[in-house]
Amino acid sequence: MTESSNNGVGPNVPLDRRDPATGQAPGPVDPALEAIDPDRGRPANVIATRGLSLRFGDKTILSGIDMLFPRGTITALIGPTGSGKSTFLRTLNRMNDKVSGFRYGGDVLLDDESIWASHQDLLALRRRVGMLFQRPNPFPMSIRDNVVAGVKAHRIAKGKQLDVVAEERLRQVGLWDAAKDRLGDSPFRLSGGQQQLLCLARALAVGPEVLLLDEPTSSLDPISTENVEAMLKSLAPALTLIVVTHNLGQARRVSHHTMFFYDGALVEHGPTEVLFEHPREDQTERYVTGRMG
Ligand SMILES: Nc1ncnc2c1ncn2[C@@H]1O[C@H](COP(=O)(O)OP(=O)(O)OP(=O)(O)O)[C@@H](O)[C@H]1O
Ligand SMILES: [Mg+2]
Repeated sequence: MTESSNNGVGPNVPLDRRDPATGQAPGPVDPALEAIDPDRGRPANVIATRGLSLRFGDKTILSGIDMLFPRGTITALIGPTGSGKSTFLRTLNRMNDKVSGFRYGGDVLLDDESIWASHQDLLALRRRVGMLFQRPNPFPMSIRDNVVAGVKAHRIAKGKQLDVVAEERLRQVGLWDAAKDRLGDSPFRLSGGQQQLLCLARALAVGPEVLLLDEPTSSLDPISTENVEAMLKSLAPALTLIVVTHNLGQARRVSHHTMFFYDGALVEHGPTEVLFEHPREDQTERYVTGRMG
């Protein structure tokens, strides 16, 4: 048995190149571009959940979730408080594994391999599937050292290369001008929005394939929120993003797909525009029209 054969899902799933938002088939692909596509031959869905059930102790939080996350797309997770959004998100890079009472059933596949397979290395998994939290959490070290903390830990670069990485990533998130004269300073004097961008730069620096974001702008003012949203949009399709948000406008603005969680279930999911404009389920409609808390 090969390692990727768990749950009977082999590595040769045909590539689905339809636009996930519209379902339209793409135009002809330039063979030269195709040849240098780093994702060529990889499964179209970077993450898939198969009959995933999540429990804390005796309490089932979610059950039977089958979901595909197409590579290079942004998926929003919405639903009332306590509906299991964070629990689901944190499962995807095994952040719940050490939480007392946590149990799972079914599976999560990353590039067709179970994230719980015995050969999976947790550090390597977290490098591939990074995370940004609700509150900015810079480390107590300089701005520059924050950006390269993961890069050093994973020995991706060293010495002078670290300065190059720091500049490149700070530029990428639009923080370079604000930070370039204070790279050796504490990050805690940056504004909340800047701190969140710094944490994003740190998460990006290790080259993740997937980024999980749990309410990444809920502690930010509207201008910082706009900056972070613009950044997130610019990261796809190079990255796959999965973002929990209570801000329905944000889900509509940034995501291709939306999942609606309610009362222990994934009630509905689909292209964001369809889910908001033509929800199938009554519960979804009540939630997206603001008639449900
Ligand atoms: N460590 C834990 N131990 C026991 N129960 C937990 C734990 N973490 C979460 N829960 C429970 O799991 C359920 C789902 O919580 P979760 O945090 O996933 O919801 P959420 O949708 O992210 O809510 P919010 O929008 O408020 O962040 C809740 O009933 C919560 O009390
Ligand atoms: Mg939550």
